[in-house]
Amino acid sequence: MRVLVTGGAGFIGGNFVRYLLSSNTNDSVIGLDALTYAGNIESLMDVEDKPNYTFVHGDVTSHEDVEAVFAVGIDAVVHFAAESHVDRSILDPGAFVRTNVLGTQVLLDAARKYGVKKFVHVSTDEVYGALGSTGYFTEETPLHPNSPYSASKAGSDLLVQAYHHTYGLPTCITRCSNNYGPYQFPEKLIPLTIVRAMANEPIPVYGDGQQVRDWLHVIDHCRAIDAVLREGVSGEVYNIGSDNEWTNLRIVERILDVLGKPHDLIQFVEDRPGHDRRYAIDATKIRRELGWAPTIPFDEGLASTVKWYQENETWWRRVQSGEYQSFFETQYSTRLSQ
Ligand code: NAD
Ligand code: DAU
Repeated sequence: MRVLVTGGAGFIGGNFVRYLLSSNTNDSVIGLDALTYAGNIESLMDVEDKPNYTFVHGDVTSHEDVEAVFAVGIDAVVHFAAESHVDRSILDPGAFVRTNVLGTQVLLDAARKYGVKKFVHVSTDEVYGALGSTGYFTEETPLHPNSPYSASKAGSDLLVQAYHHTYGLPTCITRCSNNYGPYQFPEKLIPLTIVRAMANEPIPVYGDGQQVRDWLHVIDHCRAIDAVLREGVSGEVYNIGSDNEWTNLRIVERILDVLGKPHDLIQFVEDRPGHDRRYAIDATKIRRELGWAPTIPFDEGLASTVKWYQENETWWRRVQSGEYQSFFETQYSTRLSQ
């Protein structure tokens, strides 16, 4: 298969590109990414010379960029490209509607025109809204997004379902819980806590810190998406999660303990507006129908993630300083054009 991975220079997309290239398949992989602040080509330096991998710098909202990629022949699309950070969506919703809704529609049109055999849309558990202290999201839970981010993702999900229903496009939607692991941009809770704790800086915990998230290692998410790509039934939605619920405060305390740092680095700050209290996924369907199950115990995954940030300080320091963005302009794009 020739697989197009949109958002292939982001956190999960980049891990998925590496996962596909390291698994024993004959797939070739095209990563398409606009390299917004969240895209980092330095995350993929270890695979850039693989003969079955190509990086394309392009915007999913641009018909021209998207057509140019599909014209080379694409068998399957795994669509990660998105604006992904809830706090940013509260400050600037427009960028989220543009990329997440319009960008998805541009890709769906191209997928239809060029007859792709599978379109996997990577969505999120946040489209279901928030839970109280009990209950789980199933694939039948009505969509009830609460933030501009989750509303834009829900909009993209509805478009994907409409293209399947109306045009018979072979689509699947995945809705996963919170991911953690290597190469995550240090604006999200776990990497932010790790890099701030390492620098003995205060760690902002929103509100009372009692919000609950279900954490899954990014490699287990990649394995689930791969299962959906190969075995997922057209038109279906698959929830992905690992029954691993933690309050934000406990997660931050656990990271401080792993690093041997004092809990008084924690600083309670003003809550996120409209902050969803709890997400929890019922992943029975993907477990039963596709045989997927998480493999990385949280203790091990968190310890290895902390270790990764300790051993890859150059990577996140260059993100913090902004140098990672000039690398593409000054060096990588020249190499691409040769
Ligand atoms: P990310 O922000 O790390 O990466 C997003 C990538 O998309 C970046 O490389 C960025 O440059 C690229 N991008 C943004 N706008 C683009 C555009 N217009 N054209 C082309 N590329 C563009 O996000 P992530 O955390 O890796 O999430 C990837 C996907 O998974 C998203 O769709 C997100 O909704 C979903 N998701 C994320 C999580 C999580 O915990 N991070 C959980 C469930 C689902
Ligand atoms: O549930 C899946 C979603 O998980 C994905 O769809 C999103 O793309 C991804 O960003 C993530 O969303 P969250 O809002 O849950 O992730 P974030 O890391 O931003 O925050 C996790 C929790 O920690 C949330 O309750 C807010 C809180 N938080 C976050 C930050 C950045 C803090 O208390 N302090 C912080 O500094």
